[in-house]
Amino acid sequence: MTSNGIPLLSVRDLQICYNTPSGAVRAVNHINLDMERGEVVGIVGETGCGKSTLAHSIPRLLPEPPAQVVGGEIRFEGTDMLSLRNKEVPKYRGTGIAMIFQEPINSLNPSFRIFDQVVEAIKVRKMREAGMEATSAAEPHDYNEPKPPVSHPLREVTATTRRNRFGDIEFDRKELMAEVVEFLSMVRINDPEHILRLYPHELSGGMRQRIMIAMALSEQPRLMIADEPTSALDVTIQAQVLSLMKDLIEEVHTSILFISHDLGVVAEIADRIGVMYAGNLVEIGKAADVFSKPCHPYTQSLLRSFPHGYKTDGKLPTLKGAVPNLTRLPTGCPFRGRCESAMDICATAMPDTIDLGDGHLVSCYLNRKGAA
Ligand SMILES: Nc1ncnc2c1ncn2[C@@H]1O[C@H](COP(=O)(O)OP(=O)(O)OP(=O)(O)O)[C@@H](O)[C@H]1O
Ligand SMILES: [Mg+2]
Repeated sequence: MTSNGIPLLSVRDLQICYNTPSGAVRAVNHINLDMERGEVVGIVGETGCGKSTLAHSIPRLLPEPPAQVVGGEIRFEGTDMLSLRNKEVPKYRGTGIAMIFQEPINSLNPSFRIFDQVVEAIKVRKMREAGMEATSAAEPHDYNEPKPPVSHPLREVTATTRRNRFGDIEFDRKELMAEVVEFLSMVRINDPEHILRLYPHELSGGMRQRIMIAMALSEQPRLMIADEPTSALDVTIQAQVLSLMKDLIEEVHTSILFISHDLGVVAEIADRIGVMYAGNLVEIGKAADVFSKPCHPYTQSLLRSFPHGYKTDGKLPTLKGAVPNLTRLPTGCPFRGRCESAMDICATAMPDTIDLGDGHLVSCYLNRKGAA
């Protein structure tokens, strides 16, 4: 809850489709999701389940068209995000909602050195602190996909800002340089003086993601949305970046919606875990409950294919079949075609969501009282 008792994030009956020549792709179907301040919620599911669509809809980053919010509501700290006019949306990015993407190379401007990008962020923050309108540099750019909001070093900005006689802010280059160096050191970059002179393409993927993660976190956003931030990195670097992220989360106490197809990664970081299948949130609960008492057959299958996870028979089976085509979803539960426990009733309608207690919710007929 926020200090006035309003949930940080409240998603209600959200429905999103992509209008394509072959029909409407129903990427998000009747999703409800609440988040409290300081929570880390992980969303997992196979490719094409609608995780990114859900994540990008919150800060209004979906490409409309082809995306279309068909129904439902997204409230961030009580604000109805879907009713905002386009020019009002940037106010909620950065210190409100920050975003980290899988491919940091797409989020950094290829034509500027790291120094210039970080410095730009510092300047924008100083201008905001001084009560001036942030320039367009603060808003997402489309290099390949939407750019996360420009953000700033974690620590308090100490460099002084002065105004010239026209009232514009003047920046002291030496102070800015010191801030950029400190900023890069903070994300465990050992030779910041060298790195700040490089262009994004001259950095490794892990290094670029460190910079992006720290830039997003350092704004101290109330909600950070990380869409597969470590998926493009190799395993060792992934572990390092995840560990850095965990340390920084402790420091800034932000809330995070962490998207991943990897249960192992989500298990490392999330307080609660939501499982998506074919555009539906089929199970959500405290991470410990979802791991120890998974109730949806899809969650159980995911955990069985996760080496350290839940196993019923000591084997490590992989889930057969594929996510159904979202333009032609079957009637009833979309998982029934792959479900070993499917019953006749599963073909009739999508099961209601059942509350198993302590915030553990599941949408499956098996969990109804009296179910076989
Ligand atoms: N711009 C688009 N136009 C048409 N269909 C789209 C578009 N973006 C996504 N989709 C479709 O929406 C569905 C959900 O996609 P989404 O990217 O949200 O899934 P995801 O769970 O994030 O997958 P991944 O794990 O591969 O990132 C998929 O069927 C996808 O093909
Ligand atoms: Mg995705």
